[in-house]
Amino acid sequence: MPFTPDSILLAIESSCDETSAAVYEGATLRSNIISSQLVHINFGGIVPELASRAHIQNIAPVVQAALQEAGLGMRDVAALAVTQQPGLAGALTVGSNFAKGLAVRYGLPIVPVNHIEGHIFSAFIENASIQFPFLALVVSGGHTSLFLVESFEKYSVIGSTRDDAAGEAFDKIAKLLGLGYPGGIQVDKLAQEGNPKAIAFPRGMMREEHFDFSFSGLKTAVRLHVQQTLQNNVSPEALRDICASAQEAIADVLVHKTMKAVKQFQVRDIVVAGGVAANSRLRSLLSEHAARQSVNVFIPSMKFCTDNAAMIACIGREKLLRNPHHSYDSLTFGIGSTAIRAKYRP
Ligand code: KG4
Ligand code: ZN
Repeated sequence: MPFTPDSILLAIESSCDETSAAVYEGATLRSNIISSQLVHINFGGIVPELASRAHIQNIAPVVQAALQEAGLGMRDVAALAVTQQPGLAGALTVGSNFAKGLAVRYGLPIVPVNHIEGHIFSAFIENASIQFPFLALVVSGGHTSLFLVESFEKYSVIGSTRDDAAGEAFDKIAKLLGLGYPGGIQVDKLAQEGNPKAIAFPRGMMREEHFDFSFSGLKTAVRLHVQQTLQNNVSPEALRDICASAQEAIADVLVHKTMKAVKQFQVRDIVVAGGVAANSRLRSLLSEHAARQSVNVFIPSMKFCTDNAAMIACIGREKLLRNPHHSYDSLTFGIGSTAIRAKYRP
């Protein structure tokens, strides 16, 4: 049975620490169930082995819940989409093998989706009016890349982090300041009452021609400030200033490079996705700069910014509608850990 614009699609995402399943009926998202794993909280980071185990426990109930919320059963589903890469190997294996099991049982095509591709197109879940070509800034705990997106099938990386991802920088800074995990939200909160100009933290690669990023120097600068300038004596006021100044440095670099790319590639729309898209300073600074140049900024709702299966379903559906049905009959695809490679260099 060919996949048509009205067909029903079930998608699964399990690349990191969220087990998620979503159902699209035609162009309408019917459900998006996300089960976030809490087992990692005490470890200050994600423990891959625990993530795989939690996915195994959660995957069946999450898929059942997604179908139930959509008011549908497996026999209504016309195709599957699943995150294939990048991510934790064990975690990806759970989702892809569960999807393959369903494909065998119900004789369905299955679209393997790149997780980052899911983030790039996640803004289409809520807004179909985004115009190609656009820029996508994907900023999460594991990825920081800027993409030039020309169509659903043609996009390229124009810049990526050369060391830490932006979310990773937030998390590492939070950890060395003794804040909880994940740290981005804590830094954001404390920064609200701090002075962003108090400490001139470095803006890695900000003035360089290319669109790559570097955040590891910032983390070191924060550590040195705490150890040498403050002699490890961080008052509540100093803590707020460090958070505000570090956050300002991250937002500054991300916005500066994005706006430079807007100019160079002559785009009118920007999409920001990934967990760090929640950052209040990144949002306000980017909106300010974009408004000055009459550029639109699209930031998905938080539930579509952090890892979710709706974004896998969204791009999976576009692929099914654009490619011949038999393209997705293979059940031999593996899982991978590679990110999308850079194609553009100035
Ligand atoms: O996309 P995501 O949920 O997971 C992946 O990494 O794939 O992103 C999580 C990241 C974490 O590093 C977290 O600290 C960061 O997003 N984050 C934030 C904020 N909320 C979440 N970073 C800065 N400000 C926030 N408000
Ligand atoms: Zn992600």
